[in-house]
Amino acid sequence: MDQERAAFEGGVAVITGAGSGIGEGLALHAASLGMKVVLADISVPRMEAVAAVIRASGAEAMTVHTDVSSPESIDRLAATVHETWGDVRLLVNNAGVETLGFIWEIPAALWEKTLDINIHGVIHGVRAFAPRMLAAGKPAWIANTSSVGGLGMMPVQAAYILSKHAVLSFSECLRLEMLVKKAPITVSAILPGPVATKIFDDTQPVEERMALHHREVMRAMLEHEGITGVEAARRIFSQLAAGDFWVTTHREMTQGMAQQRAAYLAAMATPELTPVTEQLLGSF
Ligand SMILES: NC(=O)c1ccc[n+]([C@@H]2O[C@H](COP(=O)([O-])OP(=O)(O)OC[C@H]3O[C@@H](n4cnc5c(N)ncnc54)[C@H](O)[C@@H]3O)[C@@H](O)[C@H]2O)c1
Repeated sequence: MDQERAAFEGGVAVITGAGSGIGEGLALHAASLGMKVVLADISVPRMEAVAAVIRASGAEAMTVHTDVSSPESIDRLAATVHETWGDVRLLVNNAGVETLGFIWEIPAALWEKTLDINIHGVIHGVRAFAPRMLAAGKPAWIANTSSVGGLGMMPVQAAYILSKHAVLSFSECLRLEMLVKKAPITVSAILPGPVATKIFDDTQPVEERMALHHREVMRAMLEHEGITGVEAARRIFSQLAAGDFWVTTHREMTQGMAQQRAAYLAAMATPELTPVTEQLLGSF
């Protein structure tokens, strides 16, 4: 906690998707560290509810209605934050959605929406905020939310999985670019494991029965291994403050997935269905 306060107290935190789940937990945790918190979400009622809790605790919160799939919306967010509160200490590009369906069955508009939120939302978050962070020349943090899914493969979740691989890869390159620039900006990739949030209820399925099955499997998994958004944020913040690149909510699970991925790549193995994929897939 001391390391977290030293890093973040008094700074401005911008969190996309702060109206629910992990983003909500991050916003509440940032406020508890004495940060001024900017909540950027597409759902006004959700982010206002979180902002009300923060304000009731005596901390400062600002809500900015933002659609991360729109570069202009993110540009407006960055401009508003800088005009109102100045330099940003912590940016978490966290907003993300889950889409289910066979690759060829997902309509073009749903493909684009998913990738615009999950991939372009992160890219444009960095494009909009990083120049001002670099110009300020002060210690700052950029964290992008990937997933343990960013280390794996899963049928009927291609849209989500590939977006999380992309966020991980983007974050690796960004960390290197900050080194090239000798910037005091720490870049992290957040790879959450199971966290009980609204993401599976909000999932956009091509077929409702697919979503029903997926929710059931996810609910069972969350019952065993799921943590709350608040607990996820507690785990995430200590790793951000330590400057870690790999930030996770479930270290053993993430390490296990990373080791499996490394072994698969080293062997140049062929993708195969596993008992876990079969269970997630159900009758599809
Ligand atoms: N919950 C998990 O188990 C889990 C696991 C791995 C990764 N993640 C990732 O964590 C991040 C947060 O997910 P969560 O589980 O807290 O989900 P959540 O659905 O509870 O919260 C996501 C928030 O993002 C907002 N949002 C959706 N579209 C948006 C848009 N276009 N612009 C701005 N805001 C938008 C929603 O309104 C919501 O408040 C996502 O990137 C998700 O992929 C979650």
